[in-house]
Amino acid sequence: TSGRRLQIRSTTSLQDATTTKINGLPVREIPGSYGPAFWGAFSDKIAYYWTEGVPRFYENRRDKYNSTVYRMNTVPGPPFFPDPRVIVLLDQKSYRTLFDVEKVEKTNVFTGTYMPSLDYTGGYRVLPYLDPSEEKHSLLKEFCFEVLKSSGRRVFPEFHKALNEVFEAWETGLKNSKDRKIKFMDALSVETLRFNVRAFLEADPVDPNTEASLGKEAVGIIRWWTLPQIMPIAVLSLPIFFAFLLAPLFELLLHTFPLPFSLVKSKRQKIVDFFRANSKEVLDMAETRFGLDRNEALENLIFYTCFNSWGGINFLFPAIIGRLGSTSAEFQRELSAEVRKAIEENGGLNPAALSSMPLVQSAVYEVMRIQPPVPFQYGRAKKDLIIESHDAAFRVKKGEMLAGYMPLAHKDPKVFTDPEGFNPKRFMEEEGEKLVQHLLWSNGSQTETPTVHNKQCPGKNFITIIAQLLVAEIYSKYETISVDGDTLVALNRASSP
Ligand code: HEM
Repeated sequence: TSGRRLQIRSTTSLQDATTTKINGLPVREIPGSYGPAFWGAFSDKIAYYWTEGVPRFYENRRDKYNSTVYRMNTVPGPPFFPDPRVIVLLDQKSYRTLFDVEKVEKTNVFTGTYMPSLDYTGGYRVLPYLDPSEEKHSLLKEFCFEVLKSSGRRVFPEFHKALNEVFEAWETGLKNSKDRKIKFMDALSVETLRFNVRAFLEADPVDPNTEASLGKEAVGIIRWWTLPQIMPIAVLSLPIFFAFLLAPLFELLLHTFPLPFSLVKSKRQKIVDFFRANSKEVLDMAETRFGLDRNEALENLIFYTCFNSWGGINFLFPAIIGRLGSTSAEFQRELSAEVRKAIEENGGLNPAALSSMPLVQSAVYEVMRIQPPVPFQYGRAKKDLIIESHDAAFRVKKGEMLAGYMPLAHKDPKVFTDPEGFNPKRFMEEEGEKLVQHLLWSNGSQTETPTVHNKQCPGKNFITIIAQLLVAEIYSKYETISVDGDTLVALNRASSP
């Protein structure tokens, strides 16, 4: 049985430990087993989605093997998805192997062991699927940097405009709803989409006067294109009773085979038409400055904007509002006081004001720590490697797949005290600032910079800024807000501007 096999393995590792050391660490055989070809993967999949769930699935095996590096089958797996065997990395030290592009191959691993059909991206492999050794990687990443740079002066005013719309919708919604409760993301999803596209393209995707406008359906159309791409690996949160009743059906429909592209074909065409009509200057720049094919640049632009940026925002913003809106009124008043003082001293909510808000910055970092918006990273060993955790060294063979689960690396008790606790002041003062390097949400350290040579997210600074702006906008207007999960219950206006 796998239990007995495990015992034998750990005895071997004890023997290893006494004989071999690397960098002072005992060499240990990587614990865990994949089980029989199909059933091993299938039983891991059921445990992952249904019986244990995430993050328990990772925690249970970490505790069982007493190791933050081990073997497991990842999802979606057989019969219709590729080889699910991975070596999982769960601590701050081993996790960084995934950022070292000399050690890991990043070709086609953006969504893990599975890659969506190229039909979703017009037949092109867009930048997130490219390894930095590919020439296109540099050109497309430069192009992305340029789009972000040129949006720079629009970010603050456009974000302010968007948030004003959100506040109006929230206040009217709360007033008009029977039970005085609204889903806060309804307005925020629409307005962040409009903000994002206005910042990058200077065009509003919802406004009916824009050429090839997506109109009021914009959010739905883009979600319809995005979701099937991540559905095979999506963890759905269904009430437990329904989950067990519907599990076989969901497994069959959503996690067993890729959803057919034909379902989204016509909606995708609308997105392409809208972007093509409104990105003439941006595409001219891609062609003349970087020699990129116009269609390839267009497909990348769509992907950066809708999938990477807006998609990420839709995970990050609810986490920020959900977490901060559940903190004490006293803490929220402190946030609001800091925001209003910085605005007053700097003549408005401008970059100088934003950089004088250490509490806002720390609070945002803490949300990103405890709930990183993109929780998984993958990479294939480019050569035979030694991977070190805090307490052992492991030999990995060329070609083996490494899989990081970031929420646990972000809760590494060797680095963070009270790792499970939400402490919005964690990153403040000298001691707190030393922890910033351990924030990995952008596929690299928060103190490092994305370049054409690495795979760190080019939107790192853009996202850090707008996440802080979100908090500053909210707490410049409201002294406290009250949130329950994804529901907004109350807004209490600040007395003076
Ligand atoms: C890569 C996270 C916003 C464009 C990545 C990766 C992560 C990430 C984890 C690495 C994926 C991997 O290789 O395993 C996020 C999050 C965001 C966000 C959480 C928002 C909350 C953005 C924005 C842009 C962007 C605003 C650009 C407009 C990209 C691109 C890559 C990437 C193009 C691939 C980079 C490369 O190939 O070198 N992002 N991102 N992302 N992100 Fe972001």
